[in-house]
Amino acid sequence: MKAAQITRYIPAKDIEINEDASQPPIDAGFVLVEIKAVALNPIDWKMVEGELSRFMQLPFPFTPGSDFAGIVREVGAEVKHIKKGDEVYGMAGYNRNGSGSLAELAAANASFVWKKPASLSFEQAAAVPMTGLRAWHVLVEVLQVKAGQRILIHGGAGGIGTFAVQVAKHLGAHVATTVSGKDKDYITDLGADVVIDYQKEDFIKIIRDYDAVFDTIGGETFEKSFAVLKPGGKITTMLWERHPELVQKYGVMYVEQSESVSPQSFMGLGALIDQGIIKVQVAKTFLFDEVGDAFDYQKDGHPRGKVVVKIK
Ligand SMILES: NC(=O)c1ccc[n+]([C@@H]2O[C@H](COP(=O)([O-])OP(=O)(O)OC[C@H]3O[C@@H](n4cnc5c(N)ncnc54)[C@H](OP(=O)(O)O)[C@@H]3O)[C@@H](O)[C@H]2O)c1
Repeated sequence: MKAAQITRYIPAKDIEINEDASQPPIDAGFVLVEIKAVALNPIDWKMVEGELSRFMQLPFPFTPGSDFAGIVREVGAEVKHIKKGDEVYGMAGYNRNGSGSLAELAAANASFVWKKPASLSFEQAAAVPMTGLRAWHVLVEVLQVKAGQRILIHGGAGGIGTFAVQVAKHLGAHVATTVSGKDKDYITDLGADVVIDYQKEDFIKIIRDYDAVFDTIGGETFEKSFAVLKPGGKITTMLWERHPELVQKYGVMYVEQSESVSPQSFMGLGALIDQGIIKVQVAKTFLFDEVGDAFDYQKDGHPRGKVVVKIK
């Protein structure tokens, strides 16, 4: 089968397709999926370029990719909620004990796979899992955002941010978000109430006394965000950073997000998508042969929403 593979860490734009890659085996609890489309996430190029090699050693040859949409071709023992022939979407990938999704076939842990929303094409469905489900998890299960609350979402025009702004608005929140200047109108159209240009404006001078912060940027942006919360407000980040001294200084709550995916998040987000309440944002679609260009665009092209690779 064809798979985008590396045999050592390389610039992601240089990745090539191996026409003769091995078909991945599946264990109990796993499914084999014929991949139709894949969406790229920052972690994919970080793995290919060796940025995460301090935390995880990749087995070479290595097939990157997590998010996918496709058709189930084989079902392992103990899998109950999907069957052969189902059109599905989900996350495969090495860090979920599966195989990379940038391939004609991938093995995926069935807990990270669900029937795809009927209203979406394979290209649109692939653009949902890691960012859409994370956004849902953080807003509904971690921050537990309620109608009338005020929330700051950093990186509103990114993969996670485009879902987060829409889900927070659906929950009835007042949403402030940081984006680059070119994305101000775009994110206003997606529903944001206060839009801050992170390159020209300082968000801590514009908003205060917020109920929650959802950070997708990290570093100085995350550290400064504690100052916009009211006492008892909640903050979380996708970047695995901790600042107990700032939690204490501002009297706020740091809440942990996790990598788990609940059936409720698949069903909750999928229903909102099928009802047309959440619109999936695909920035650009590439052919499989153009996978290097897709990585280049995802990393440096400042896409609005998701970058998708059509496999078949
Ligand atoms: N822990 C987890 O489970 C998990 C899961 C998924 C993702 N992540 C991490 O979360 C981060 C975001 O992921 P993503 O998929 O949303 O990335 P993305 O699609 O690359 O989006 C990032 C967005 O942030 C904007 N941005 C850059 N610097 C900014 C700043 N200082 N202030 C405000 N906005 C800024 C970018 O705008 P411009 O391009 O216009 O500058 C872009 O729109 C990544 O680091 C990723 O690795 C973690």
